[in-house]
Amino acid sequence: MTGFAIVASGVGVKKGGKTILDGLDFTVKAGTITGLIGPSGSGKTTLMRSIVGVQATSSGDLRVLEQKAGSKKLRRSIGYVTQSPAVYTDLTVLQNLLYFGNLVRANHKKIDHVIEQVQLVDQRDQLVESLSGGQKARVSLAIALVGDPELFVLDEPTVGLDPVLRNELWGMFKDLAKDGKTLLISSHVMDEAERCKNLLLLRDGKLLWNDSRELLLEHTRKDTVGDAFIAMIKKGDE
Ligand SMILES: Nc1ncnc2c1ncn2[C@@H]1O[C@H](COP(=O)(O)OP(=O)(O)OP(=O)(O)O)[C@@H](O)[C@H]1O
Ligand SMILES: [Mg+2]
Repeated sequence: MTGFAIVASGVGVKKGGKTILDGLDFTVKAGTITGLIGPSGSGKTTLMRSIVGVQATSSGDLRVLEQKAGSKKLRRSIGYVTQSPAVYTDLTVLQNLLYFGNLVRANHKKIDHVIEQVQLVDQRDQLVESLSGGQKARVSLAIALVGDPELFVLDEPTVGLDPVLRNELWGMFKDLAKDGKTLLISSHVMDEAERCKNLLLLRDGKLLWNDSRELLLEHTRKDTVGDAFIAMIKKGDE
C-alpha cells in the first residue's frame, strides 16, 4: 500500500464537447476523511462517478486502491452513496439490506450489525417511504456499509438534514475513519469542510486546493474554509 487510496494525475472529463473536469492532480490519503468541496455545478458528482468507475475519463490516469478506476477488482472495495437516494422505498429497511446485501454476499450477521451501526434497529421492519429524512440517509449509508468496503464515496450525504442529524452522521464517518476506512465526502456547504482533515476544493472543474485543511487556513491566513475558498478564488483570478 502506498498510503494513498486515490491517486489522480491529469484527470479530465469531457461531456457534450464541454470540459467538465480539467486536468486534476490530487491524492486521497488512506484512512482519512477528505472533503470534496465546491459550488453546485463545479463537478463533484462527475469526479465521484469517475472514481467509482461509472464515468469514463477523457484524459489522465486515475488509480483507486492501486487499480485503474473502473476495474472489476474494485467492485467490492468501494461503497458509493449517490446524490439521489438509490433505495427501494416500498421495501422495509431490512428488506433493502437483504436485497443489496445479497449482491455483495453479506450474511445475516453482517446485516444485523450494520442495522445496529446506523441505529435503525427500531425501524428495521418499517417501509423506507415512512422514514424521516435522516433515517433514509442512514439506510443509504447502511447499504454502502454492508459490503464492508475499504473506500466510501459519499455524494452530499448530509444535504437537507438538520444540524443534529448531520452531526450524528459525521460521528459515524469519523468512526469509520478510526477503523481505517477512507472516506471521500462531497458537500457544497462550507461548514462541513471544517470537519474534514483533507480538502479538495473544486471550482468550474478545476482544483483550487488539494491538501490538509490546516495547511489551507495557514496558507490563506483565514479562520474558516469558506473565507479560505474565496481567497483561493481571488488568487486564481489575479
Ligand atoms: N451530459 C452533459 N453534457 C454537458 N454538460 C454536462 C453533462 N452532464 C453534466 N454536465 C455539466 O457538468 C457540470 C458538473 O456537474 P456535476 O453534477 O458534476 O456538478 P456538482 O458539483 O455535483 O453539482 P451539485 O452540487 O449541483 O450536485 C455542470 O455544469 C453540468 O451542467
Ligand atoms: Mg452533484
